[in-house]
Amino acid sequence: MLCKKLHHAAFRCKDARETVNFYTEVLGLKFSHAMGEDHVPSTGKYSPHVHIFLEMDDGSAIAFFECPKDPGNMKDLESPDWIQHFAFEVENVDAVLQAKADLESKGVKVVGPTNHDDFILSIYFFDPSGHRLELTARTCPPQRLRDFEEEAPEVLALWEQTHDWSQRDKLYGSQSGYAREKQA
Ligand SMILES: [Fe+2]
Repeated sequence: MLCKKLHHAAFRCKDARETVNFYTEVLGLKFSHAMGEDHVPSTGKYSPHVHIFLEMDDGSAIAFFECPKDPGNMKDLESPDWIQHFAFEVENVDAVLQAKADLESKGVKVVGPTNHDDFILSIYFFDPSGHRLELTARTCPPQRLRDFEEEAPEVLALWEQTHDWSQRDKLYGSQSGYAREKQA
């Protein structure tokens, strides 16, 4: 496979200092790199900014730009705010639950835990710029992952036919939940 792992995903932030403090102090990430430029390296366009990287255990990072002279918002404000988000994988379900308690003790409002299809268990909260973050742990055995992969094209095909899930029982065996035949 060409693409080996996540290097970084980048977002805009309101305030680089506040962002570094949040990701290092609240989530324990490493402030690994900061690049300062008056011109965008790829396009040459004038835009004084700082580009900061907050690194996880595996070397992957979430990155931000504080670019005060540019127009626009921190994120897409027209779509519902649950859509655009960034998910960090944690060790296990206990780590998700512990993180929820830790975040709440630091005054961060947390949604969840939410079980997604017995695939992952997640909690959600917002960073200081309004970006939605997710902490998630894998909850399914390897065999289920193969089932999910096999089923994915069928899920997409049914979506393209109906653009809702009025016929979801065809795939999932139920009008609600995920009572698949394949499921052990
Ligand atoms: Fe997610």
